[in-house]
Amino acid sequence: MELGNHTRVKEFLFLGLSQSPKLSIVLFILLYLVYVTTLLGNLLIMVTVTCESRLHMPMYFLLRNLSVVDICFSSITAPKVLLDLLVKKKTISFNGCMTQIFFFHFLGGVDIFTLSVMAYDRYLAISKPLHYVTLMSKGRCFGLLVASWVGGFIHSIVQISLLLPLPFSGPNVIDGFYCDVPQVLKLANTDTFTLELLMISNNGLVTTLWFFLLIVSYTVIMVMLRSHTGEGKRKAISTCSSHITVITLHFVPCIYVYARPFTPLPSDKAISVTFTVISPLLNPMIYTLRNQEMKSAMRRLQRRLVSSER
Ligand SMILES: *[C@@H]1O[C@H](CO)[C@@H](O)[C@H](O)[C@H]1NC(C)=O
Repeated sequence: MELGNHTRVKEFLFLGLSQSPKLSIVLFILLYLVYVTTLLGNLLIMVTVTCESRLHMPMYFLLRNLSVVDICFSSITAPKVLLDLLVKKKTISFNGCMTQIFFFHFLGGVDIFTLSVMAYDRYLAISKPLHYVTLMSKGRCFGLLVASWVGGFIHSIVQISLLLPLPFSGPNVIDGFYCDVPQVLKLANTDTFTLELLMISNNGLVTTLWFFLLIVSYTVIMVMLRSHTGEGKRKAISTCSSHITVITLHFVPCIYVYARPFTPLPSDKAISVTFTVISPLLNPMIYTLRNQEMKSAMRRLQRRLVSSER
């Protein structure tokens, strides 16, 4: 692609979440609380799973992995958004913007693949209970997680290598508060129609299909559970419904953003906040409030801490 004698923009300018100083302060306080809760909640999950030997099984190791990913994912956007809410001129360097897109898609991809490994784990546990331990061995579980990270990396590097060669010499104002493909692609001084189609299919179509696949898997799991009885069944249903909730709340905003032409809509900012800042908080919220096993593990941990203080 030809750059001509244009020079590439050095930085992008965010319009941010709000222009009004008063609203900015309110948003700052809210998002700050959400971010801190995300960090603490996910840390709590990590500590609980690590300290409670009863939780030393693939399902909870996967949950701990998800917590690590969620902490990293929210730290890509949240600190910058918080900082920007306090300053008037919100800028990001060209490289900073591309780095943000890279890690956003890398960790976003890992997140979604990890959720899928969790689904597969439940599928094996419920459809093949007798062989579960051998099927979901430590090595297998680890291999699946490595595959998730490789998958996230490939997904992200494809986006970036399509974006980087584009000529960015003109407008540099992003009506948003972080860098992502739809907003940045709009700023390229070239016809991006084909590229947009490609990006929509890479992000939107894949996430939509993936979402349906996961929902179908959980439906199959739930149907299989009908023949089970007792405590095991109750626990399994509770776990699967937590997973379904997490998946739905992760995927729906994601599909909304990517699976349509990249034309800005008024609701975009609200949706973006959901899936950049709120999604990483869901996992600890759902697991600490709804999962019985996790809740009693946390109580035991608390008792241990309290009694060791005396
Ligand atoms: C991630 O999962 C693997 C496989 O179960 C486990 O060995 C590892 O400890 C987990 N990592 C974290 C940080 O939870």
